[in-house]
Amino acid sequence: MAYTRRSFLMSAGQAGGYGAAFALMQGMNLIPAATAVTAPDWPRDAGKGSRVVILGAGIAGLTAAYEMGKAGFQCTILEARERPGGRNWTIRNGSRVTFTDGTEQTAAWQPDSYFNAGPGRIPSIHRNILNYCHELGVDLEVQVNTTRSSLLVNPTSFGGKAIEQRQAINDTRGHVSELLAKCVNQHALDQELTGEDRERMLSFLRTYGDLSNEYSYKGSERAGASRLGGAGNVTEELRPPLDMHTLLDADFWRGMLFEEGLDYQATMFQPVGGMDRIAYAFTKRLGRIVQYRAVVSKMGKTARGVRIEYEQSGAKKAIEADFCICTLPAPVLRNMDGDFAPRIRTAINATFFSDAYKIGWESKRFWERSYNIYGGISFLSNHPITLVWYPSAKLFSDSGIVISGYAPETGSPFGALPDLRAKLKASRDAMELLHPGHSSELAHPVYVNWGKMPYSLGGWMSGGGGGGRSSARGQSVNYYDGPYQEFIRPDDRYYYAGDHISHLSAWQEGAVLSAHYAIRLICDRIRNEKTAGASKA
Ligand code: PHE
Repeated sequence: MAYTRRSFLMSAGQAGGYGAAFALMQGMNLIPAATAVTAPDWPRDAGKGSRVVILGAGIAGLTAAYEMGKAGFQCTILEARERPGGRNWTIRNGSRVTFTDGTEQTAAWQPDSYFNAGPGRIPSIHRNILNYCHELGVDLEVQVNTTRSSLLVNPTSFGGKAIEQRQAINDTRGHVSELLAKCVNQHALDQELTGEDRERMLSFLRTYGDLSNEYSYKGSERAGASRLGGAGNVTEELRPPLDMHTLLDADFWRGMLFEEGLDYQATMFQPVGGMDRIAYAFTKRLGRIVQYRAVVSKMGKTARGVRIEYEQSGAKKAIEADFCICTLPAPVLRNMDGDFAPRIRTAINATFFSDAYKIGWESKRFWERSYNIYGGISFLSNHPITLVWYPSAKLFSDSGIVISGYAPETGSPFGALPDLRAKLKASRDAMELLHPGHSSELAHPVYVNWGKMPYSLGGWMSGGGGGGRSSARGQSVNYYDGPYQEFIRPDDRYYYAGDHISHLSAWQEGAVLSAHYAIRLICDRIRNEKTAGASKA
């Protein structure tokens, strides 16, 4: 009997179980080797008899408490705020935003309006956070991160007229294909292409750029129509292609290619009702072990553990434990009275966070009704506001919260604006450029800047270790060479976690992975101490 691929896999599965068949299929390239769920690989009762104090009830702290609870650890989370989630925060009617400088805002919205001030999208490749959503019963819906109906605008190009992404993308592709076909036909690429490849390349370019038989680009239906085909004699009318020189001037490339970033590729998700559903799903399971309004005032090491002092509702308290998992962001630790190892103190001082902001407005859904835009993002070039992010929640409903402005603020043209009024004006102007006549529908703005949020003091890790060199994923190379290498090693009985203590900084997935990593280190240590104790006895 011939040994088929199928029977081979089945016998592997029978001999080695599901894991063996799965690994084999990955090896045979039958299924993609995506980031796997890092199932807890520590013993089920690893934590029996050990106490842990976790600082911060963000996604890292919640994950740590949840998994360690399963493994028999006795956990307490100290959370400075009155709510869980940290930057995982959904602003709804009545939510209060209080900055460190005293500025106060309150959202005055419809009861079902909300926006996610922190994380707002989950990539489908972030399987660990998605796995918790599944395990904890958090309903997810598609977060429409991209649509060809959304717009690109540069006030100094195309007379300031906003261009549909389908038009900019497909006309650019047509022009580039035509140019490349010219090079091939004029034998400019004969060094690189054999005769056969030349033919294949030309045939590819005709499909890729929707070129005519003579390899010229005369416009494409892909770019949209000035009139859609209808009944009777209503024929479809195409638009003339956008001029290539103006496209080059307009500098739309960032927005056009945004959806190609690995973490931004469809399909993306969001919890139904707001990102904070994840945080509350964790706390529902954790119960009383999460202590709110508990502000850590001093971190100390003891002979066999840790002693954390904190203030809760005016009372001074302290808790002792065998281990501490500290998820507080570096800007908060900078001011902490803590006996960190000198190498950790240096790392904390050398880690920098950006002050990302978002501005949300309540509005009638004119982008849906008049522009066929359902979710997705419009981009602006040459403007202090770089993007407008439309809601994916409650499509086709009456109103919603639209984000006009989301980016790191310091050092940007937006950051140079003198005050809140000027910032809100820029935000409204951006909407007017994209959707003329509609900006007056925006009401009840809420501006969140994470750099000014107490207990966060930053949006995400922006660099460190001296210099801001960045890698392809927008992560600081120097941070990962420097401070990061310190944070991933335990500091006596302090263990550090948080999204920035992973290679997926500024993603909830990174927070989850950092918690798993810290748990693993602690479990290894317990096992080693037990073995050492046993060999002494
Ligand atoms: N995760 C953030 C978002 O979805 C962006 C981000 C990623 C920022 C990586 C910094 C570094 O918008």
